[in-house]
Amino acid sequence: MEAAIEQVGTSMIPGAPLGKRRREGYEQLIERLSAQSVRKHYDAYADIDWDAPHNAIRRDDPRFELPADEGLGATEWYQSQPAAVRAELGLTGIVGSMKVGVVFENVLQRGMLEFAFKLPNRSPEFRYAYHEVIEEGQHSLMFQEFINRSGLDPRGVGTTTEWGTRFVVRLGRVFPELFFFFVLGGEEPIDFAQKQSLRSGKEHHPLLERIMKIHITEEARHLCFARNYLKRNVPELGFFARQRLAYMIPVILGEMAAMMLEPGPAMIKRFGVPAGVIREAYRDNAEHKRRVRASLASVAKLCIELDLLHEGNVWWWKIRGLGNPLKYAV
Ligand SMILES: [Fe+2]
Ligand SMILES: [Fe+2]
Repeated sequence: MEAAIEQVGTSMIPGAPLGKRRREGYEQLIERLSAQSVRKHYDAYADIDWDAPHNAIRRDDPRFELPADEGLGATEWYQSQPAAVRAELGLTGIVGSMKVGVVFENVLQRGMLEFAFKLPNRSPEFRYAYHEVIEEGQHSLMFQEFINRSGLDPRGVGTTTEWGTRFVVRLGRVFPELFFFFVLGGEEPIDFAQKQSLRSGKEHHPLLERIMKIHITEEARHLCFARNYLKRNVPELGFFARQRLAYMIPVILGEMAAMMLEPGPAMIKRFGVPAGVIREAYRDNAEHKRRVRASLASVAKLCIELDLLHEGNVWWWKIRGLGNPLKYAV
C-alpha cells in the first residue's frame, strides 16, 4: 500500500505549473490516505475478542519469553532464570512498551490537534489529522486494555518527561516539521520492532499478535503522511529553522529509540537485573546498536534526502550514539 501511496505523492499532473503539480500530488496523497482510513480501520473493542478463552493473559505463559537472539533475552543471566520468571519478565517488557506507547500516542494526538487547530476550511490535512488522532485513540485503548488484563502495573513517565511533552505538543502548531520528526522518531522504531517480531517465526500470544498486526497496518499511513509532509515542507524552511532541525533530530531519535527498544528502569529494578547485564545486552552490544540503527535507517535516509544530514554534520549523529548514518541509511 505504502509504495503505491508514495508514488501518488510524487506523481505529476499534466498541464499545471510545476509548483501547483507538486501541491496537487501532495493533496491527492492526503485524500488517498484519508480514504484508506475509512476503508480499513479497527475498533479496539469491536475487532478484538478480549474475552475469548485463548486470549486470556497468564503471566507464566512461555510465549511471553524474550527472544533468545537479542537484547536481554540473549544474556546468560536471563537464560538462567526459572521459566516463570523469564515469561513474566517478557510480559513486563511488553506492557512497559505499551505504556510508553500510550504516553507517546497521547502526545502525538495532542500535537496533531495543535497542528489541525488553525488549518483552513477545505484543507485535506484537517481531515487526515483527525483520522490519525482517532486511530491513535483506538491504539491507546487496545494497549491500555492489554495492560489492564495483564494485572501488571507499568509506570508512565516521570515528571520531567511529562513537562517535556508540553513542549513537543506545542511544536504541532509552532514548528510542525520538528513535531513530525518527533513522530517518526517514535513510530519508526516501534514499527520496526513489531515487524521484526512478527517475521521472526516466534510463536506469539494471539492477543499480542492481533494488536501488533492492527498497529502495523494503521501506522503505515501515519508514517507515510509524516514523511510526505516533511518532503513537501522542509525544503521551504529558512536557514535557521533547518539548522534547528539538523541539531534536534539526532537528539530526538537517540532518546526515542532507547525509550522504545530498551527496558525501562522500573523493570530493571523489579527483576534486579544487574547493571553489567544491561550493559552487555544494550549499551556495549554491537548487535543491539545495529538493530537501533536499522530501525532509524529510513528516517536517516529522509534526512539525507532533505539535506539535513551530510558529511558536514554527521559528527553530531555519531556523538549521539547513532553511528554513521551516511553508511547505513542507503
Ligand atoms: Fe499508534
Ligand atoms: Fe501512529
